Amino acid sequence: MSDIEKTEFSVPDGLAPAHKPAGIERNADVDASALAGEQEVERALRPKSLQEFIGQPKVREQLSLVLTGAKNRGVTPDHVLLSGPPGLGKTTMAMIIAQELGTSLRMTSGPALERAGDLAAMLSNLMEGDVLFIDEIHRIARPAEEMLYMAMEDFRIDVIVGKGPGATSIPLDIPPFTLVGATTRAGMLTGPLRDRFGFTAQMEFYGTEDLTRVITRAARILDVDIDDDAAVEIGSRSRGTPRIANRLLRRVRDYADVMGNGHIDLQAAQGALEVFDVDERGLDRLDREVLHALVVGHGGGPVGVNTLAVAVGEEPSTVEEVCEPYLVRAGMVARTGRGRVATASAWQHLGLTPPEGTIGQGLF
Ligand SMILES: Nc1ncnc2c1ncn2[C@@H]1O[C@H](COP(=O)(O)OP(=O)(O)OP(=O)(O)O)[C@@H](O)[C@H]1O
Ligand SMILES: [Mg+2]
Repeated sequence: MSDIEKTEFSVPDGLAPAHKPAGIERNADVDASALAGEQEVERALRPKSLQEFIGQPKVREQLSLVLTGAKNRGVTPDHVLLSGPPGLGKTTMAMIIAQELGTSLRMTSGPALERAGDLAAMLSNLMEGDVLFIDEIHRIARPAEEMLYMAMEDFRIDVIVGKGPGATSIPLDIPPFTLVGATTRAGMLTGPLRDRFGFTAQMEFYGTEDLTRVITRAARILDVDIDDDAAVEIGSRSRGTPRIANRLLRRVRDYADVMGNGHIDLQAAQGALEVFDVDERGLDRLDREVLHALVVGHGGGPVGVNTLAVAVGEEPSTVEEVCEPYLVRAGMVARTGRGRVATASAWQHLGLTPPEGTIGQGLF
């Protein structure tokens, strides 16, 4: 397989994140979606091997077994589904999978596969052992999804030629490949699609220690001079997300360049994070607006996601995929059958006293 040429990774236009800023002004510095001009830097900072990948020990171990096992048997590994909130390393991991297998990576995204023909073109151009990466796979159109079932299972597709009653279907063999799908919404995948992945990796939010390592590593690559305690401070306020950690590092560097001599100490880190509206828990402006709408606007809930989204002028999907996972993980919001509920720590975070009977009362 080593005679396969490496293709350069390029990100098609269709890969723009689904969670675009809308309505209110978002704090782009702590938004976990990648902005166009930033992709260059992200590329430079992306770990290139499982060894280099920080954190996610479980995913790394499992994936390493899947890949090594397949390599030893001389077969293509099972299809892999990567799921988790934006900025946790799904695209990075897809690239690493191809790298570890020594094969090429072909990238596309669910929204780009509008017609089955788009997918057929992609699949028929694969070479044996290639990794096909489909980002935002939950947004794939139905006809393409159905073609994908057969491709994943039997490495075969039916290409429809012509239209109407004269249309004929021509079976086409495709070389064995490994599909890597990424999604921020595993729950939105249809059952048949989910079942065809042999391995699902759930990416979790990162702890402060791992994020501190992400920052120290990025600082080394970007040639930024940073104190250990400053790296910990930025790490602890990065919303559990490496993309945000890297972005905050660059904002703090700007601050240190302008306000001082470029050296990042604790004071510079704290000063910069204040300027950029990142609070002690790492919440950004939108997170705080959602909390505010929930606590002040709706007495702590329960309230539905759509109502919250209207209150903050955002798409429900943004609130659900971007804000909520972190607020839940931070223990400020609980999901209940009747809607979202603020915990005592949410009230306290906004400087308010939680009413009697609030979830999590007495814990803090
Ligand atoms: N484990 C890690 N170690 C170091 N850096 C990481 C790690 N994971 C992610 N990063 C950094 O974070 C950036 C964002 O990661 P990536 O693009 O892989 O996220 P993603 O999960 O695909 O996000 P999205 O859902 O928005 O597509 C990368 O450019 C990389 O620099
Ligand atoms: Mg990605």
